[in-house]
Amino acid sequence: MITRLKSATFIGINAIPVDVEVFITTGIPGVMIVGLPDASTKEAKDRVRAAIKNSGFDYPIKKITINLAPADIRKAGGAFDLPFAIGILISARLLKCEINLDDYIIAGELSLNGRLNKVNGVIALGILAKKLNKAIIIPDENKETAEFLGVNFKSFGTLKDVCKFISGEEGQLIQAAFKENYLPDYEYFNFYVKQMELRENKNNDYPDFLDIKGHELAKRALEVAVSGHHNILMIGPPGSGKTMMAKSAMGILPDISLEESIETSNICSFSNKKFQEECILISKRPFISVHHAITTAGLIGGGSANPVPGDISLAHNGVLFIDEFSELSKKTLDSLRQPMEDKAVNLSRSRFSILFPCDFMLIAAMNPCPCGYYGDENHECRCSSAEIYRFYNKLSGPILDRFDIFIEVYSVNLEKLMDNKTGESSKEIKERIERTGKFQGKRYMGTDIRFNSSLNGSSIKKYINISDSTLSFYYNICQKLNISSRAYHRTLKVARTIADIEGKDKLDEDSILEALNYRNTKFLKA
Ligand SMILES: Nc1ncnc2c1ncn2[C@@H]1O[C@H](COP(=O)(O)OP(=O)(O)OP(=O)(O)O)[C@@H](O)[C@H]1O
Ligand SMILES: [Mg+2]
Ligand SMILES: [Zn+2]
Repeated sequence: MITRLKSATFIGINAIPVDVEVFITTGIPGVMIVGLPDASTKEAKDRVRAAIKNSGFDYPIKKITINLAPADIRKAGGAFDLPFAIGILISARLLKCEINLDDYIIAGELSLNGRLNKVNGVIALGILAKKLNKAIIIPDENKETAEFLGVNFKSFGTLKDVCKFISGEEGQLIQAAFKENYLPDYEYFNFYVKQMELRENKNNDYPDFLDIKGHELAKRALEVAVSGHHNILMIGPPGSGKTMMAKSAMGILPDISLEESIETSNICSFSNKKFQEECILISKRPFISVHHAITTAGLIGGGSANPVPGDISLAHNGVLFIDEFSELSKKTLDSLRQPMEDKAVNLSRSRFSILFPCDFMLIAAMNPCPCGYYGDENHECRCSSAEIYRFYNKLSGPILDRFDIFIEVYSVNLEKLMDNKTGESSKEIKERIERTGKFQGKRYMGTDIRFNSSLNGSSIKKYINISDSTLSFYYNICQKLNISSRAYHRTLKVARTIADIEGKDKLDEDSILEALNYRNTKFLKA
């Protein structure tokens, strides 16, 4: 008897449906798995046998053939244990099947004692199930994720419990697994975010805006950058507070929505790195700090057999922070260009290509020259003009073009550092940023755009909302300052964000002048 079940494997961050066929005949006892299983899937044989025996069933001493289709995709992971075990039990007539197997996608790893263990990639699995209008059968440990996703599911702790359900022994209405209009659980998510916040508040390792003395301009620039998701580059001498400022951005990032969290958590679940450990979904926007010695593969993603997402994708819907930006190798710098433009990385392999989303905001910091003191009033720069030329030449053109905001950060004097006057707290600034975010959200409702920085040529015209007279005011300045066409658009977008912060519908001259100021650095001419 052949039993057909549905399961899934993963390519990139997507789950791909896999049909599992289990066929039992007389012959030399043993299990053969065909259809491109990788080593981890082949190992299932022994786990499944032990789990079946230890769940109180006889293990059929027969020839068992398991076929995985489509045959041309490599099947990886231990999530096939459960469909294999159920398939074997049904085919051997040890388990009667009272449910319509075709309604379910089944995934679960088995312990030798029959316990069901958590599987990776359950978000991708849920997304697939919703698309195919099916329910998923998963381990209890993945239950909460399924609840957040709003997908039809049944979860179990052991193989025995799954068998009870399949044979109808649980005495429940099998159709009850299917709820109509199952929606993501927003209320539960808000509760969960608060819980995580409480847990994390104890060990915040970033400074509050209150603790940053002076730097008014840089603080404002950071607020504008975070509000509109604009890439920002901070330039200044050693010890001026660039790293501190960048880290303080963590405290003003707007809350993450459930949809955004699902997207980013899904990406992170395919990373080899530990990420916001022990959580089901990430509860705040990612803030990924990258060391300048990072490899290109580590930054943008890579690996041959099964590519994993790089740091830029782990920063999806959040911030990528690159300190000592000028120290990145030329190759690594260049590898950032396309992903930043497309907000996705395309990794091509011989038999498939994978797309990892990477819609991040870049915060970069660097010294203005190799010695660090170029342009500083209090220190002399010891670099030769050739050294300075080489320094900027590496950064030149295309990569600098991708920043919307440049800001110079200088050391504040001692008097200011000792000053007890405090400015706004991170909490107050965050509230304003959230308000600005709602403003943008309303404007871009029903589109793919979330923040002003994502506007492009045609959408700028549509959404920027500027009067003819203000536009000609702007145009005249651009001509005088000889501003490039790329910079022309970037400045308009930043001006849009500034107007949004002020709650203005129309762009005015003040917003434009402030935005222009963020390109006006002596180090890099717009
Ligand atoms: N405006 C300020 N208010 C409060 N503390 C400050 C300020 N500026 C600098 N500091 C202190 O000085 C330290 C050094 O700052 P930080 O490491 O951010 O400098 P940096 O610009 O990143 O330097 P480098 O170029 O060497 O990396 C900070 O940890 C902070 O304690
Ligand atoms: Mg630093
Ligand atoms: Zn120098």
